[in-house]
Amino acid sequence: MSETVLLVGGGGREHAIARSLADDVTLYACASNRNPGIASLAAGFETVGERDADAIVAYAEDVGADLAVIGPESALEAGVADALDDAGVYTFGPRAEEARIETDKAFQREFLDEHDIPGNADFATFDAAEAAAEYVENYDGDVAVKPVGLTGGKGVRVTGDQLTTEAAVEYILDAEWDEWVIEERLIGEEFTVQAFVANGEVRTTPAVQDHKRAYEGDEGPNTGGMGSYTDTGMTLPFMTDADYEAAVDTIEAVVDALPDYKGVLYGQFMLGADGPKVVEFNARFGDPEAMNTLPVLDTPFLDVLTAARDGDALPDLAFAEEATVCKYAVPAGYPVEPEAGARIEVDESSVGDALLYYASVDQREDGLYTTTSRSFAVVGRGDSIADAEAKAESALSMVEEGFHVRHDIGTAELVQSRIDHMAELRGE
Ligand code: AMP
Ligand code: GLY
Repeated sequence: MSETVLLVGGGGREHAIARSLADDVTLYACASNRNPGIASLAAGFETVGERDADAIVAYAEDVGADLAVIGPESALEAGVADALDDAGVYTFGPRAEEARIETDKAFQREFLDEHDIPGNADFATFDAAEAAAEYVENYDGDVAVKPVGLTGGKGVRVTGDQLTTEAAVEYILDAEWDEWVIEERLIGEEFTVQAFVANGEVRTTPAVQDHKRAYEGDEGPNTGGMGSYTDTGMTLPFMTDADYEAAVDTIEAVVDALPDYKGVLYGQFMLGADGPKVVEFNARFGDPEAMNTLPVLDTPFLDVLTAARDGDALPDLAFAEEATVCKYAVPAGYPVEPEAGARIEVDESSVGDALLYYASVDQREDGLYTTTSRSFAVVGRGDSIADAEAKAESALSMVEEGFHVRHDIGTAELVQSRIDHMAELRGE
């Protein structure tokens, strides 16, 4: 008898999770938007808010779920994993207390300090905007200013890169938040390592590089992530094996300090001349990074879930030796003034052998509509990053007017500029 799994969340990340489970389980899903990609793979799809723990538990009980997987951080923060666990549905996703490693950025930095976890940045925390602003004004050097709570990846500002110290001070004073973390600005190349974690065990996946800035050439405001790539092995072209291992050591040190953690632990690092430093931890798969990782995971994701639930050793992971390039199509104006509510057509037949993932779109009776967030993504897979990039681009030929895509992601030119940047930092 197959397992019945409930998936919470309706973005591109969750479409990737759905695809990695659909052949092996009876899948049900719930989210605030009806994602047509997930709905077509699921035996049932319920429209319910991701933070509505009571409604999600009721749906899990209704469909007889044996297991649950949570995609979005908002659900983790709202205690959806706690509620499902307490109702007897093993949930791959941390309880709200452990999810604070993501949902409370002040806790995150303090936790790394307290447990002597390698790679922490210099930081200070504030519970009043005025004090945070004064600290930034007097700080000797560039800083990253971060609201303490969740902002969908759009709350951070970095001086010397995106704005002046003066503008950062103004940003803090004008913003709606009181609690801030101010960090030293880390310089280098960013990469992410996502790990499956349960029962104190850690299994890591290939390093991914996301592109947070909205426009080509890393210009413009921060977004949830415009696209991402992986290489054919565990590292990226600008990294060494030792850099990857240092990131894994940091992730393992976090898990040692959080022995009850279960779910995906996502470490984001800034690789500088002295090795990787922690940009942040997330308590879930990245979006878009899940769309790079899960398509090349040859080990059934279900085997990870059942081992986690049953207290067995997590399986060793096998990956296809393929590079991936993911590019998002987002509504014009995203993330500042996104044009939501447009009715769109997506021609799935023109995607070729790339993968198409639906994200924050809503399937209504009369068609598919955009929301204020990212709409859909394509993922090319190939023997090299260049090959995967070409496949992603060819799939994007169906993108209509009204969308924005960062076409530079995964191109030979941009990847080479990352390699050159690292070589320069390392004095090579
Ligand atoms: P986060 O929401 O913490 O992922 O931050 C969003 C983006 O801001 C990251 O992907 C980085 O590009 C940048 N960022 C965050 N913290 C720092 C830091 N301490 N130094 C430099 N850049 C940072
Ligand atoms: N891609 C960044 C994130 O998922 O937070």
